[in-house]
Amino acid sequence: MQPEGSYQASTYNLEFEAEIQRLKAQVLLSWEKESRTLKWFGLADGMKVLEAGSGPGFFTEQLLELLPNSSITALEIDSVLHEKAAAYLQKKAGDRLNHIQASVTDTGLDDHTFDFAIARLLFVHLRDPVAAAREIFRILKPGGKLVIIDSDAELFWLTNPPLSVQIVREKFKQAMASRGGNLSIGQKLCRILQEAGFGSIDLEAVVSHSDLIGIEAFEPLLDSGPILQLVKQGLISESEIESYLVSRQEFLAEGDRSMMSFWLMACGGKNQ
Ligand SMILES: C[S@@+](CC[C@H](N)C(=O)[O-])C[C@H]1O[C@@H](n2cnc3c(N)ncnc32)[C@H](O)[C@@H]1O
Repeated sequence: MQPEGSYQASTYNLEFEAEIQRLKAQVLLSWEKESRTLKWFGLADGMKVLEAGSGPGFFTEQLLELLPNSSITALEIDSVLHEKAAAYLQKKAGDRLNHIQASVTDTGLDDHTFDFAIARLLFVHLRDPVAAAREIFRILKPGGKLVIIDSDAELFWLTNPPLSVQIVREKFKQAMASRGGNLSIGQKLCRILQEAGFGSIDLEAVVSHSDLIGIEAFEPLLDSGPILQLVKQGLISESEIESYLVSRQEFLAEGDRSMMSFWLMACGGKNQ
């Protein structure tokens, strides 16, 4: 089964393995703060947890460590990632982890199954995010919660020296939209939860800064593979990415560089 939205791990980056490493770096970058906010939203050990769009399993791995007495269901549509995660986590997970290959819009899971659901960097890629939130609402227990973690194109990074991202960002937005995704989803997360029936909606931001965690943690995120892949696919020209690539080189060569990233975490409750 292949994703029907704007993310396909096999073609998102120039190299599949580079994409896996990019996803891993993205999890490690802000896990500490994301887990803190998840707990603040009510995630607790012993809960029955759904992770939707679990990919190669790096976020699942962190959840398993954070919640040693929880059972976790990792739901993933892509057959290659589904199998990769199962192999990666086989030894660590024991019988607490359940892998399901299905779409988040049609999980096939029973009503009222989970205490807590998390969807990280998934909704940005979906054609119908409200349908996905409705399906999660259905399979949450009364009183259960959904946290959607995503960013927004206008927020994503701040760097010093600045990266010339305007053209690349617009082209990325267009390419994602043509495949059903929405790179500006951050602004819409609260409405999506509301339309799907959730109440008690709240929104938090997780900010990571290289002065606090080191610039090395951010560098894998500057992998130019996804942008060069758009060039290969004819969605952006070499001349359009030139200023970005020059500024990227200048950024990487600057001894005193810094970088910040921003994730949004929106939480909704299935109120009784
Ligand atoms: C950008 S990756 C994020 C992976 C992981 N959540 C993380 O934070 O590293 C998005 C994931 O969602 C999966 N996905 C896309 N559409 C999906 C759908 N309709 N149902 C379930 N998973 C989906 C993709 O295959 C991919 O593994």
